[in-house]
Amino acid sequence: MDCTRQHALVTGASTGMGRAIAGSLARRGFHVFATVRRSEDGQALSGEFPGQLTPLLMDVTERGQVSDGAQLVAEHVAQRGLDVLVNNAGVGVAWPLELVPLDKFRRQFEVNVDGQLAVTQAFLPLIRVARGRIIMIGSIADRLTPPFIGPLAATKHALLALTEALRLELTPWHIRVVLIEPGNIRTEAGGKFERDAAEALQEFSPEGRALYGTAFRAMTSRFGARHERGSDPQVVADVVVKAIESPNPRARYLVGKDAHLFALAAKLPPRVLDPLRQMVFGLR
Ligand SMILES: NC(=O)c1ccc[n+]([C@@H]2O[C@H](COP(=O)([O-])OP(=O)(O)OC[C@H]3O[C@@H](n4cnc5c(N)ncnc54)[C@H](OP(=O)(O)O)[C@@H]3O)[C@@H](O)[C@H]2O)c1
Repeated sequence: MDCTRQHALVTGASTGMGRAIAGSLARRGFHVFATVRRSEDGQALSGEFPGQLTPLLMDVTERGQVSDGAQLVAEHVAQRGLDVLVNNAGVGVAWPLELVPLDKFRRQFEVNVDGQLAVTQAFLPLIRVARGRIIMIGSIADRLTPPFIGPLAATKHALLALTEALRLELTPWHIRVVLIEPGNIRTEAGGKFERDAAEALQEFSPEGRALYGTAFRAMTSRFGARHERGSDPQVVADVVVKAIESPNPRARYLVGKDAHLFALAAKLPPRVLDPLRQMVFGLR
């Protein structure tokens, strides 16, 4: 195969930001490998971008699928390597930390942290060949943790640390590693969040419900409403394109309507910030 285009791989491209990023890169002439978990999602994507996008079936927590994906991309790109990896796949678990079942907590890390690292390790040899870029989709939650979003925010703090370490470690090969920190972005994640929060409430023990039920309900409905008013995922895709095309990309990009405001708020001392956070999320 002698494909002379630039190549990008985007994880979690079935919906939301991943889909917007994959579409933007395809429109800019990249040959995009877009990972999905269901073949019908892959068919929809390749139908929308014929000849520009190749779907790859990949659950980022399945090591065999990650290494098969890397093998397939390696065979296609041959000596050219991979120009861009966008680590976007992610899930969000909302539970009070006193109650969260540890298997759900572990799964949150498996997808959002271990999964990103596994994909990065598998594709780094190809990225090194092309002197490519790695884009990590983090979150403003790596600066500001809302109540009951502890599991998700913990993974985004971890991703920030991984990104910083990778950025330093890959400097000798001129591989740029960029963290994108979106605020509220209106995607399919909103519906999943509301469904999962309702299921979580059902799973609380009677004692847990007595302790946290009212506050959890208030917080999740405020959080859901903020999500609905969030920015269009295309704004994230535009920033990703900027980070890829800039000769000198920044280490971190805030994106979305409220991201800069939240980043400013995160600098407040806890005695000011904590009551503010409790008020914003309906806890006082
Ligand atoms: N929306 C926001 O407000 C917001 C804000 C900050 C950061 N983020 C981050 O942005 C990224 C994209 O989120 P989104 O809002 O676009 O959500 P989304 O529409 O729910 O998209 C999430 C994507 O990740 C995929 N995914 C989930 N688990 C996976 C796994 N185990 N292996 C491979 N793929 C998996 C999903 O695939 P399936 O369709 O198969 O489930 C989907 O393609 C996430 O990392 C999220 O944490 C979102």
